Amino acid sequence: MRFYIQTFGCQMNENDSRLIAGLLRSAGHQPAEGLADADLVVVNTCCVRENAENRALGFLGSLKHWKEELPGRIIAVMGCMAQKSGTAELLQKSYRHIGIVIGTFAGAKLPRYVEEYAASGERIIDTEERYGEEELKRCEVLAPTIESGYRAQVNINYGCNNFCSYCIVPYVRGRERSRSVSEIVDEVNALTANGVREIQLLGQNVNSYGRELENGIDFAYLLQQVSKVEGLERIRYMTSHPRDFDQRLAETIARLPKVCRHFHLPLQSGCDRLLTQMNRGYQTAQYRLLLQQIRRLFPQATITTDLIVGFPGETEKDFQETLDFVCECRFDAAYTFLYSRRPGTPAADMPEQVSDAVKKERLQRLMAIQDPISLALNEQLVGRTLSVMVEGISKQNNSMMSGRTDGNKIVIFPLQKSARPGDLLDIEIRTAHTWNLYGEPV
Ligand code: SAH
Ligand code: SF4
Ligand code: F3S
Repeated sequence: MRFYIQTFGCQMNENDSRLIAGLLRSAGHQPAEGLADADLVVVNTCCVRENAENRALGFLGSLKHWKEELPGRIIAVMGCMAQKSGTAELLQKSYRHIGIVIGTFAGAKLPRYVEEYAASGERIIDTEERYGEEELKRCEVLAPTIESGYRAQVNINYGCNNFCSYCIVPYVRGRERSRSVSEIVDEVNALTANGVREIQLLGQNVNSYGRELENGIDFAYLLQQVSKVEGLERIRYMTSHPRDFDQRLAETIARLPKVCRHFHLPLQSGCDRLLTQMNRGYQTAQYRLLLQQIRRLFPQATITTDLIVGFPGETEKDFQETLDFVCECRFDAAYTFLYSRRPGTPAADMPEQVSDAVKKERLQRLMAIQDPISLALNEQLVGRTLSVMVEGISKQNNSMMSGRTDGNKIVIFPLQKSARPGDLLDIEIRTAHTWNLYGEPV
């Protein structure tokens, strides 16, 4: 069969899609160019916010016609939304054209289910929570065999134990579990042998890596081991929890030049009362201290964050505290989200849900505060020469190329004929915008 994978959601899902593509290939299937020439569509879904679900549902709805054109075609739904309670029933009732529904614990079974479904035509649903490692490992062993380009993602831990009160992820990704150091290092080695220069280590909370492994194994130790891989230029990681990011980790990173000086530390709110309601496990005073520690060790660090506006009970005064704290923190960038009610999470049942109109108005005000800060910090880079890893031809303009700094800032520069994705170029920054920089090679 020819397969087409449509991915929604975060890096976790992107990486799962890469692993699934590898599994399907090794089961003898071929990637399709697009929907038109595909026999199998895999929709990898996200449910972190309602609009992510709506996008996936919209796409699934549009596939009804695709399935009717050739009834032998197969539609499989996987990922976080498939794992969410109630979704399998919804799909069963209202999306009868979907053949296979597999949750986040059963991804590796997809090739077998495709075969079974093709033979019987009977719908298959597998959303069982399993912690037996074999299924996932089979995926990961295959991962390095897939051409990834110059950068790749590697899972280090799965699941989440934090239960932030607004968040659905712990319910759909299960409890935390870490892969062994040797498995991760082997995978990074295999990827770099295939030409990968930049690795992004993935976990919902990378700082809790190793908690269930033997004593002494933690994220700082893992970074040291991954740093030793030859041929690897850059190491990124996603996501850090501010509560668990400690001084020892910062000091370890300071000794490891391959680890990028980009710190993504989701703050969520600048109001202590709401941080408690969110079950984040830190207050603004601790967060402030963490930023000070990082900036002392890494004066040039890029620091980014995530913020939620309109959490239940957020008053105008609470929101003002967030605005003030955002001004104080001076983030390079902030990913801002409207609070989305996720049934089944504690926040969904909290009184005083904030209206959509108020949420939207606050989001505008937050961006109006943050965008000039992003621009001002980017302007400070004008005149400096930065090491940029080439991504490729710019999407907007084919006479330009784009790449990223160690701090993960996007740099646009004139096309260099000899530059290949993954090469490092020294670029002098000439102009700054809110979301990217322009420069010239030196
Ligand atoms: N594990 C990571 C990322 C989780 S999801 C972390 O803890 O940072 C990415 C971001 O989505 C979160 O940081 C949060 O800002 C946002 N988010 C999660 N649930 C949300 C919800 N119900 N409504 C709005 N934003 C949400
Ligand atoms: Fe969700 Fe919190 Fe876990 Fe992040 S740390 S995935 S926001 S519960
Ligand atoms: Fe979405 Fe699942 Fe990632 S809910 S954000 S795809 S972990």
